[in-house]
Amino acid sequence: MTQDNKTFHIMTFGCQMNVHDSGWLARALMAYGWREAPEDQATALIINTCSVRDKPEQKVYSLVGRLGQYCRKDNAKFVAVGGCVAQQVGEGFFERSDHVRLVFGTDQTGQVPEGLDKLYHDEVERLAMLDFEDGFKLRKFHLPDDGPVSHLPGQAFVNIMQGCDNFCAYCIVPYVRGRQKSRSTEDILAEVRALAEHGVRELTLLGQNVNSFSLDRHGDGTSFAQLLYKVAAIPGIRRLRFTSSHPKDLAPEVINAFGELPNLCTGLHLPMQSGSDRVLNAMGRGYDMARYMGLVEGLRRARPEIALTTDLIVGFPGETEEDFLETLEAVREVGFESSFSFIYSDRPGTRSVRMEPKVEREVAQERLIRLQALQDELTSSALKAQVGTETEVLLESPSKKQDGGDIVFWRGRDSCGRVVNIPLPADDSDLAGKLLTVHIDAAKKHSLMGKAVGEPW
Ligand code: SAM
Ligand code: SF4
Ligand code: F3S
Repeated sequence: MTQDNKTFHIMTFGCQMNVHDSGWLARALMAYGWREAPEDQATALIINTCSVRDKPEQKVYSLVGRLGQYCRKDNAKFVAVGGCVAQQVGEGFFERSDHVRLVFGTDQTGQVPEGLDKLYHDEVERLAMLDFEDGFKLRKFHLPDDGPVSHLPGQAFVNIMQGCDNFCAYCIVPYVRGRQKSRSTEDILAEVRALAEHGVRELTLLGQNVNSFSLDRHGDGTSFAQLLYKVAAIPGIRRLRFTSSHPKDLAPEVINAFGELPNLCTGLHLPMQSGSDRVLNAMGRGYDMARYMGLVEGLRRARPEIALTTDLIVGFPGETEEDFLETLEAVREVGFESSFSFIYSDRPGTRSVRMEPKVEREVAQERLIRLQALQDELTSSALKAQVGTETEVLLESPSKKQDGGDIVFWRGRDSCGRVVNIPLPADDSDLAGKLLTVHIDAAKKHSLMGKAVGEPW
């Protein structure tokens, strides 16, 4: 095989953890001499998978089947399956398809470049890398010599922990991502400093439950609030975000940080899951609605304009119409700016698989439609309330909609994470990663429109 065939193509499903892992893997492979290529030309076809619901799991199986078409034509080509479904199914993928030659679990992403090199030189070998590590597994940090560190210039994710100890009744994550392992504060800060020096302005701290950072046997005693203050103080970090934040562990010091740290973004994703205490209890979430509403009140006191977003599950086993009405009421009362809502899906090995009665599919679907209609209403009024205000937008990319030849619409996000589209002169300048003050003059269904005030910087 010639050097020309050392090519890869990554397909990513799931949450920001996977997006971040795939970004790392792409940079690491390039450092190992691999090049990115389109799906139909790549030697290593890598799928980074998500197992959180049945649907993304099924998508992986059909994708593995579809990718077989390339491998059948060229023996050198192969499929590598990584991430959460790989951890769940393991070597079972070898039985599903002759073309899968690597399965790697969520703690093994760091070893994939070596693994792929092995397979590249040996066309018959198959590798399973599925072990969980004991502590936070450090991966060699690859910064590109020039150019952005992520697909969104000026933005980066930093992992502060791996795994999750919560075992919510419905959730497969603790089984496929392993137990919680906090990273050392020193390592986190060193990575953030390097990113800031490289031009990163917006940083997102990542973990399944960042509020319990350090509260495991690998922790170094720094609380999540203390970490926020340390990261926010690093020169160049203009915007700081974090996700996911579990309501049971959201400490008063973190809430206070919203009142004290100007570069902490004005948006918080605080997954509520249900508005019914009975359902929250069955889910094992560890909080009730009185606690949740208390947090909302505290956050609004600390930062009155804070935009709250959430995750919601409908049709959890035993959820009644009354429970669901409580969810609708709570969603309206908090006034979430947006939400991700899902129909409950049985996941192998989780406690809720054995919970009865299951909610009928049609009933759950109808609840989801009602919930999403309410959310559309709330999103729309929250966006309308922004019209007439001035805000700072981090520019991401020119949007598809272009107005003739002289104007390009740029898409960006404000500090709350709202999408803003701004018409700008269509010259050759690359504005991705630049900040711009924008006057908001219209609200669309899911985004805002505005005009530039001054120059991007
Ligand atoms: N760690 C985050 C937290 O606790 O908020 C959530 C991580 S999970 C990957 C993302 C979301 O998927 C959850 O907030 C939940 O709403 C949803 N989810 C998880 N398991 C689910 C299941 N079995 N069925 C439907 N939705 C599920
Ligand atoms: Fe899943 Fe709960 Fe952990 Fe979130 S906190 S990843 S929902 S077990
Ligand atoms: Fe999916 Fe794994 Fe994330 S199950 S949501 S990719 S942690």
